[in-house]
Amino acid sequence: MVSHDHPGGLRVRLGRRVALTLLVLASAASATRAEEAGQPLRPVTIVGDAIPASLTGAAGDPARGRALVLDRTRGLCLLCHAGPFPEERFQGNLAPDLSGVGARLSEGQLRLRLVDGRRVNPQTIMPAYYSLAARTRVARAWQGRPILEAGEIEDVVTFLASLRGPARDQRTGP
Ligand code: HEC
Repeated sequence: MVSHDHPGGLRVRLGRRVALTLLVLASAASATRAEEAGQPLRPVTIVGDAIPASLTGAAGDPARGRALVLDRTRGLCLLCHAGPFPEERFQGNLAPDLSGVGARLSEGQLRLRLVDGRRVNPQTIMPAYYSLAARTRVARAWQGRPILEAGEIEDVVTFLASLRGPARDQRTGP
C-alpha cells in the first residue's frame, strides 16, 4: 500500500483511501432504525445554521476531541482537512483548513457541521457524524449507530472551538 517514491503514488493512494473511507463512513452512518441499537439519537434543535445546545448538556474535553480528529479509524477528519497538527505528515486538501475554525464559526455552527453538514450544504462530501439519515444497506453491526457518540461530538466541538489562531502561528508557534 505504501508508495513514497512515485510522484503520483500518494495522490492515487489517498484517492483510493478517500473512496474506501467514504464507503465505510457512509455505511456506518446509515441505518434503518435507531431503536435497533437500543440507543436512539438525542434530539437536536437546529436554529439557523447552528445547534446551539450541547448534545450532552455538558462541555466536551478538548484533548479527547483532538485525539478523535487525528484518529484515522474514528474521526478521519485529516483525510479531507488539514489543520494545526504539526505531527501529522499527511493531511487532506479536499476541505477547508481547520486552523482558526473556532474564530470563524460559533460552537453551535461547529456542532451542526459535525452532526449533519448536509443541513448546511446538501451536496457535501463530509460525513454526517451524528445522524442515521443515510439510506445505504449496512452490516448489522453498524446499524443504528452514529459514527461518533454524543459525548465525542462535544469533545470535537470543544476542541475545534479552541482553534483560533491563523494556520501559520498554530503550526510553527509564535
Ligand atoms: C470526506 C471528507 C471530509 C471528512 C472525512 C470530514 N470533512 Fe469536514 N468538511 C468537508 C468539506 C468538503 C467541507 C466544506 C463544507 C462543505 O462541504 O460544504 C467540510 C467542512 C467542515 C467544517 C466547516 C469548516 C469551515 O471553515 O466552514 C468543519 C468545522 C469540519 N468540516 C470539521 C470536520 C471534522 C472535525 C471532521 C472529522 C470528525 C471532518 N470535518 C471530516 C469534508 C470532510
